[in-house]
Amino acid sequence: MRAVQIVAETGPDTALELVELPEPGSSPVMTPNEEGVVVEVHAAGVSFPELLQTRGQYQLKPPLPFVPGSEVGGVVRSAPVGASVKEGDRVAAFCALGAWAETAVAPEYFTFALTDELDFAQGAALILNYHTAYFCLLMRGRLKAGETVLVHGAAGGVGTASLQVAKAAGASTIALVSTEEKARVAEQAGADHTIVISDGWRDEVKEVSGGGVDVVLDPVGGDRFTDSLRTLRENGRLVVVGFTGGSIPEVRVNRLLLNNTEVVGAGWGAYVMSKPDLNREVGAAIGKMVADGFVRPPVGGRFPLEQAADALRMLDERRATGKVVLEVRPG
Ligand SMILES: NC(=O)c1ccc[n+]([C@@H]2O[C@H](COP(=O)([O-])OP(=O)(O)OC[C@H]3O[C@@H](n4cnc5c(N)ncnc54)[C@H](OP(=O)(O)O)[C@@H]3O)[C@@H](O)[C@H]2O)c1
Repeated sequence: MRAVQIVAETGPDTALELVELPEPGSSPVMTPNEEGVVVEVHAAGVSFPELLQTRGQYQLKPPLPFVPGSEVGGVVRSAPVGASVKEGDRVAAFCALGAWAETAVAPEYFTFALTDELDFAQGAALILNYHTAYFCLLMRGRLKAGETVLVHGAAGGVGTASLQVAKAAGASTIALVSTEEKARVAEQAGADHTIVISDGWRDEVKEVSGGGVDVVLDPVGGDRFTDSLRTLRENGRLVVVGFTGGSIPEVRVNRLLLNNTEVVGAGWGAYVMSKPDLNREVGAAIGKMVADGFVRPPVGGRFPLEQAADALRMLDERRATGKVVLEVRPG
């Protein structure tokens, strides 16, 4: 089968190689002693971790060379007895590694039927970002209907997913983005208010939220963190999701005491990997959000497998919107 491997930790320009590999067996990387669902990959997701892996900067560091890519949209070739999907089904599946290939293998509890509303590219956008958004907002952030959430990096993958999951949960959404073009992406993803970041963004957030927000979802980090804390109303929660801005902020905890607010860490992968039932439960909840029309992953970049480096550069150069995918079997 055709696949792309990371062969060096030298960055997206030189770290990747298109190769011919034997088909994988039927065991997923995550559960090597169990039979998984073998998927013919139509689209594979491209995400920040793969960019970091080309530089050796991600926590998951398989020995070189390896096939990166954590999620796919495709068609089931084989499934274990008792799985909720069967041969021929369209699915979205999370395989952790090995997605940038014509065939991938995922645990049955991380494989979900893909309904007709979504194409394969949207299937490849459904698990990492939407399960993360659900985990960060509803489980760690305890977001409730009627509350207001501020989403940083709102035109990105996690950002657009968070806007849609928040709307499905009955919350109001404020999107913070860096350009007018990204503002349009956030609006299309369901933002109630969109703010292009400038010196006065904190005051704008306070104004449109009527005094402060209940939850901040922050995949960006960096120097806007303290201002984010200042946008929280009483009992507000700032959910720490990532650091695309490059630096890891520090908290002066007296601010939390004075304003009765919280900073909450949210690491989806580490939390859910060993919890099959939780993944089934979240998959069903996201499936309902798809059926109810709230979840429609925006796909902002489509590349053939051999142009995986271009796909990574989109993320690296802050040009990506929604989800970037590799179309492994186009059509
Ligand atoms: N905690 C978890 O469980 C979990 C799960 C999945 C992903 N993540 C993390 O969440 C973060 C976002 O992932 P994503 O897939 O949403 O990425 P993405 O699609 O590239 O979006 C990230 C956003 O960050 C903003 N940004 C600010 N400074 C940036 C910079 N220097 N370079 C690139 N982007 C910058 C950009 O928005 P503006 O241009 O509008 O500012 C961009 O849209 C990553 O760090 C990822 O590792 C965490």
